[in-house]
Amino acid sequence: MDAKLFTPIKLRDITLRNRIVLSPMLTYAADGGHLNDTHLIHLGKFAAGGSGLVFVESTKVDPRGCTTPRDLGLWKDEYIEPMKRIAQTIKHYGSVAGIQLSHSGRKARRSVPWEGRAPLDHCPGVDHGEEWELIGPSAIAHSAKFAPPRAMTQTDIDFVVNAWAQAARRADAAGFDVVEIHGGHGYLIHQFLSTTSNHRTDQYGGSRENRMRFAQEVATAVRAAWPASKPLFFRLSAVDETDWNIEDSIALGKVLKACGVDVIDCSSGGISDESINERPRGYGYQVEFASRIRAESEVMTMAVGLIVHSDQAEEILTSGDADLVAIGRELLHNPNWPIDAAQKLGIASPFSHVPAVYGYWLEKRASTKFGQPSTWQQGIHTDKK
Ligand SMILES: Cc1cc2nc3c(=O)[nH]c(=O)nc-3n(C[C@H](O)[C@H](O)[C@H](O)COP(=O)(O)O)c2cc1C
Repeated sequence: MDAKLFTPIKLRDITLRNRIVLSPMLTYAADGGHLNDTHLIHLGKFAAGGSGLVFVESTKVDPRGCTTPRDLGLWKDEYIEPMKRIAQTIKHYGSVAGIQLSHSGRKARRSVPWEGRAPLDHCPGVDHGEEWELIGPSAIAHSAKFAPPRAMTQTDIDFVVNAWAQAARRADAAGFDVVEIHGGHGYLIHQFLSTTSNHRTDQYGGSRENRMRFAQEVATAVRAAWPASKPLFFRLSAVDETDWNIEDSIALGKVLKACGVDVIDCSSGGISDESINERPRGYGYQVEFASRIRAESEVMTMAVGLIVHSDQAEEILTSGDADLVAIGRELLHNPNWPIDAAQKLGIASPFSHVPAVYGYWLEKRASTKFGQPSTWQQGIHTDKK
């Protein structure tokens, strides 16, 4: 059977072996923006488990943009060399290496989730200069619990747009083949899009067109710094807890496509803590957004959010709701989810998506248990190293 989930997809000059994407997930394991072996192990296992594209977590383009002191950074050239090892490892296992580039704006300077995501006043030992300054489109706090940011000047805006472009250049130098701009979850770009966090009266505020300008400038600058041969993704919150809605996202999707964005990654929420739990979260609760944006912005989309089962993922693709599926927690639970999905969907050589060092043995195991003919013995296996 030819499952769409396991049909390779070409994005610009980059081919993914399947449509399964590790959604970017913070590990909160960095120190001063520097990665370590935790990241290597974390990311390597998803590549070895057969995912087509593995995203490095939200990596900050500016130290002020770190959500926590444990965020990864790409704001200096010295981060390039260690990042090469991550990209090489992901690629070694046959996945495409992607990285998400982000700035948290007014949602920066907090403790890690298991310490309550509480506002931090001081953060010793972290590369944030004299003061870890919160910046945002307007001086409006995320909630009463948090400090208001300083409203960004035109100079600040130009600086951050350029920081995104420089981080994309570094990602290319480190060997990554996909960049995703994080434009959702209430972080800086989303703060510009939303009327709740953006009260500006200049060309970045007011009308929807003006509020989309910052996103557009970031996408344009990143596209210019990022090779034309490599795909660019953009994660947005298709709807949020206040007034950004799917029609706005469809309009933004068209604008971003014109800026050279190839795939819109359709998430939701994050601009406020007030009503975050009001939307019911069932299986594939955000797929409808990927579907509408794909159809109406005429751009490729990635669906994300409680995609749990292989037949569910397959249906999302075959029904034309999305071109790719991003999986977070289910892959945390089982990094070998793609192997399991390949078996369940009955594809001809389910173990060809993982390195031979695993595939060889897993195929033997499967043929013993289920009495299936060994594709390894038939010479179908593609990786015989
Ligand atoms: C531990 C953890 C860390 C996350 N970090 C990020 C992140 O760095 N960037 C991002 O855009 N989303 C992040 N998310 C959201 C996921 O990428 C994903 O959108 C969300 O978990 C829904 O997908 P799922 O139901 O498959 O987990 C994170 C989620 C989890 C569970």
